[in-house]
Amino acid sequence: MQIIRTKAHLLNLQQKYLTQLIGFVPTMGALHQGHISLFKRSRQENDVTIGSIFVNPIQFNNESDLIAYPRTEAEDLELLKKAGCDAVFIPSVQEMYTQKPVISFNFGAIEKVMEGAFRPGHFSGVAIVVSKLFNLVKPTNAYFGLKDYQQVTVITQMVKDLSYPINIIPCETLREPDGLAMSSRNRRLSPVKRQIASKIYQSLQLAVKLLHSEGVEKTRTEIEAYYNQLPDFQLEYFEIADAETLQPVTIVEEHKRIVLCIAAYLDGVRLIDNILFI
Ligand code: PAJ
Repeated sequence: MQIIRTKAHLLNLQQKYLTQLIGFVPTMGALHQGHISLFKRSRQENDVTIGSIFVNPIQFNNESDLIAYPRTEAEDLELLKKAGCDAVFIPSVQEMYTQKPVISFNFGAIEKVMEGAFRPGHFSGVAIVVSKLFNLVKPTNAYFGLKDYQQVTVITQMVKDLSYPINIIPCETLREPDGLAMSSRNRRLSPVKRQIASKIYQSLQLAVKLLHSEGVEKTRTEIEAYYNQLPDFQLEYFEIADAETLQPVTIVEEHKRIVLCIAAYLDGVRLIDNILFI
């Protein structure tokens, strides 16, 4: 596996792969099996798989979150080698941003809700780094996890609006045996809090059941009540949204797909998850 630290080296490598199918998996490192599942899928569907590891400062709106973000390069490289990744781009902040970007992205309604509402500027930062990476890697297919549902929607919109000749491939969320969505942030939970973290997925499963029988409003209040009884959690949002537009829904309609999204703090660690209601 090639380790690439400069844009010049990456462009050089890209030239060699020009006629091949290139699969790309952007990450911020601290890799777990959820990330690795994207690499495995890319391996199956492409001639070459390129990954990136870059903790992108401009998508963090909270300095302490950026500082606390785990960095585990040696372990990450071992996992990527095992997963059959061909090359990994690991630039420094200076290499990626010789200057602070001047442009910004505005995704309109799809970023005014949920993550976009609670993390102002987050999706602009994500879109800037992903577009820079797309321009350098020029992949055929790029793999993103549905764990970050709104991120997949934003990137799909960006690719459409800017005519990137890249297929965005959404991939299923990998979970721990107790249902907790795998996340680099899980390792910041104490063993005691880790035990109860699975309540997030349980609450989403409960919400799906309630939505079938009780409708939108009752489901919303029941889930809020569920978290009021769990003082370890601080619920940030629970949304029942149209799976395409991400706007909140008021009723369940047969032909419309719905996504239920949640963000909650546990032990100061911000966890997100979602589930599709079909
Ligand atoms: P990061 O959080 O490292 O995630 C990298 C990719 O792995 C994302 O597409 C994410 O949705 C996916 N992923 C994370 N946990 C997953 C799980 N349990 N199952 C399946 N896929 C999972 O998302 C980012 O980095 C950044 O915003 C990035 C796109 C790299 C831009 O900086």
